[in-house]
Amino acid sequence: MSESIKLLSFESSCDDTSVALLESSSSLKPRLRSFAVQSQDELHEKYGGIVPELASRAHLANLLPCLKKVLGESEADLEAIDVFAATARPGLIGSLLVGHSAAKALAFIYDRPFISVNHLEGHIYSVLLERNLEFPFLSLIVSGGHTSLYRVDSMQSYECIGMTLDDAAGEAFDKAAKLLGLGFPGGAELEKLASGGDPSRYKLSKVKAPGLHFSFSGLKSDFSRLVQREGSNLSASDAAASYQSALLEHLESQVKKALAQTQLARLCIVGGVARNQALRARLARLELEEVIAPSPAFCTDNAAMIGLVAMEKYRRGEIDDLAADVGSTQRPSRARIRREKQA
Ligand code: KG4
Ligand code: ZN
Repeated sequence: MSESIKLLSFESSCDDTSVALLESSSSLKPRLRSFAVQSQDELHEKYGGIVPELASRAHLANLLPCLKKVLGESEADLEAIDVFAATARPGLIGSLLVGHSAAKALAFIYDRPFISVNHLEGHIYSVLLERNLEFPFLSLIVSGGHTSLYRVDSMQSYECIGMTLDDAAGEAFDKAAKLLGLGFPGGAELEKLASGGDPSRYKLSKVKAPGLHFSFSGLKSDFSRLVQREGSNLSASDAAASYQSALLEHLESQVKKALAQTQLARLCIVGGVARNQALRARLARLELEEVIAPSPAFCTDNAAMIGLVAMEKYRRGEIDDLAADVGSTQRPSRARIRREKQA
């Protein structure tokens, strides 16, 4: 095996198919040689949400073109790859199986190590793709499937200290966008519409959640009632601005609570909703040592962040068996929610 390590990673946990090739010498941070993403937004738009079976089929169609692009751009062939890796959980089972099975098959054929990666670890450490950062830090994951807060102490040690009790922030953006007749996923469109609107025009009830958790279902119902009540009198841009402001207010208030409790001085915002400029601007105003979000391409699901985590696991000797399985979405246990509510 050559001195530098070439690692090929696959991400297919939801509706983005992605492949990346990373290279690392023993002491240096991995270099991203090439990466490809194929979105399925057009496919799911007409259904107003992700259709799991269509998503898995589309991954099957998109995976090889992504792989060819990455190998072509980096002028590498499969024989030259030292390690294969893929997202194993959480996500849609049928989708996960596509990337995971492809990586395992390649590892088997070329007799190379295989590494399973937790998608959320990928998001947490995605900030390190483009820069170095000192530990510890607070990480806010805000995506279409997840909204959680993590205290991150090192590449191996992190703790979830809060999570959504119902919808994810991205899901809440997408549902409101749908009510306003915007496309799917509508988070970015809603942000655009909101930028020309008055956030104080419509009063939406203040969001509450126990401890450091999040909850968006009440806000979403409130918004649905507003849209029905106002009918054709509704100003879509003012409604979008009012909704976005209430949603971001909730994220900011839980982040502030978490910072006060943990005394952390660095904050990372990751996941698809971290693309939202209004969210970035709000959190950048907090008086902290650093507030960091990845470039837009590394906020949404991508194989580069999966490769970064896999390279670390490889260095630590954490190789997975080829019988390794995939797993679906995690939710807080009912007992834990009840305890937090009583607190
Ligand atoms: O991280 P991601 O690609 O998928 C999951 O892992 O779930 O995030 C996709 C989510 C969608 O809900 C999308 O509407 C949202 O990120 N999103 C945004 C923006 N750009 C993407 N939400 C708010 N503002 C944006 N600019
Ligand atoms: Zn994600």
